[in-house]
Amino acid sequence: MTIVAELHSDHLNLDRLLDILSAKVAKLRAGTRPNYRLMADAISYIGDYADEYHHSREDRMLAWFHGRDAQLDDLIQQCETQHQHVQALSRDLSDAIDSILNDTLMPMEQLIDKLETYVREQKSHMAFEDEQVFVRLEKLAQPLDWAALREQLPRNVDPLFGEHQSEEYVELYRDLLQDMA
Ligand SMILES: [Fe+2]
Ligand SMILES: [Fe+2]
Repeated sequence: MTIVAELHSDHLNLDRLLDILSAKVAKLRAGTRPNYRLMADAISYIGDYADEYHHSREDRMLAWFHGRDAQLDDLIQQCETQHQHVQALSRDLSDAIDSILNDTLMPMEQLIDKLETYVREQKSHMAFEDEQVFVRLEKLAQPLDWAALREQLPRNVDPLFGEHQSEEYVELYRDLLQDMA
């Protein structure tokens, strides 16, 4: 699998979790009581995976191509800004759920708004990468670039996010589906 294909496949996995959270938003708006623990697990999984692993691979890949093409440089700049933005939203949402778990009162509407914003922004960030950044990048990249990047980027079987992580993903996905039933 090429690096871009790996990143795209991460997007598909994250998108499935985000779709469930998006359906969750609708249920919460209709008055269902949330399973905060599960929601906290889902947000921290997505946040950890996206921010610590997926985005760091992307950032290093984009840095490699920086300075070759004005249009790509502009897209890279936007991408970095979005990474910071999405990371801040993820932290804000995690903090909100943590404080609820620690018995701090928060209006339900406020929590649902935060969840909805996070899901929307994370999804639109991934679509921006798939439809614009990766497309432009694949037009400009040469086979030698991919070979060099293969050597440089952290592997997909990173000890922290390798097999253990995919097991965690499967469990989380199953629990979220059960919770939605
Ligand atoms: Fe990204
Ligand atoms: Fe991405």
